[in-house]
Amino acid sequence: MANIIKKISQKTPKNIAIIMDGNGRWAIANSLNVSKGHKQGVEVVRAIVEESIRQNIDSLTLYAFSSENWSRPKPEIEAIKQLVLKAIEDQVPELTEQKVKLKFFGHTDDFGEKIIKKIKEAENATFSENPSLQLNVALGYGGRQDIVDLTKEISSRVQQGKIQLSDINEDLVNEYSCSPVSNVDLLIRTGGDRRISNFLLYQVAYSEILFVDKYWPDFSKEDFIKCIANFKKVSRRFGKRV
Ligand code: IPE
Ligand code: IPE
Ligand code: MG
Repeated sequence: MANIIKKISQKTPKNIAIIMDGNGRWAIANSLNVSKGHKQGVEVVRAIVEESIRQNIDSLTLYAFSSENWSRPKPEIEAIKQLVLKAIEDQVPELTEQKVKLKFFGHTDDFGEKIIKKIKEAENATFSENPSLQLNVALGYGGRQDIVDLTKEISSRVQQGKIQLSDINEDLVNEYSCSPVSNVDLLIRTGGDRRISNFLLYQVAYSEILFVDKYWPDFSKEDFIKCIANFKKVSRRFGKRV
């Protein structure tokens, strides 16, 4: 029995990432302002975090705002900024209680002093040595930008003689990437589109990818459980003959 349990639990995805897409279309479909879609999206995050803890997931990495999303209308960006502030204020006490370790990554500096300060406070408040879940939030993140940034950083270290060319390997690239997760087991995208949209390009090399038609505000705990169940059915070969 113990062996069977071990076999099944080995297939549980350790690291899950989600492209939370469809807030705008959900709002339009419900005759609401786009910002209301983003607001509803935050509510869904709470339920998915709770379920991730229950399922013993190591890390949940959420795509909240891409480097390309800066080209959205100013009022929408402003609404998202306000929501980020409010979401941190509202959710940090609960996350702390749940022993969730929160980390933001991407060009977060572009969001201004107020958000930077809030992010730092939230990260400090939720620091936990033995977290129930590592919750990573990509904010102002672009996969290509990350690769450019880390290439510059590694090159500069080589130039200064701090690292040797021969030190550069896959682990070092992971180390210099701003992404707190190095391997995504399961990537979920809601909203019906089948693309990556510049998310975690290096880290999804061997992810199972599930596209869900529902808009993010309609995505439920049950949908998430179904995604995990689907993941468990997949044979992951990593290029091997098995
Ligand atoms: C995803 O929802 C959230 C962000 C990009 C901030 P969208 O706002 O992209 O929703 P759709 O794709 O327009 O419906
Ligand atoms: C991806 O969604 C980014 C986030 C969910 C934060 P987008 O709506 O920005 O992606 P595209 O434009 O459909 O590719
Ligand atoms: Mg979208």
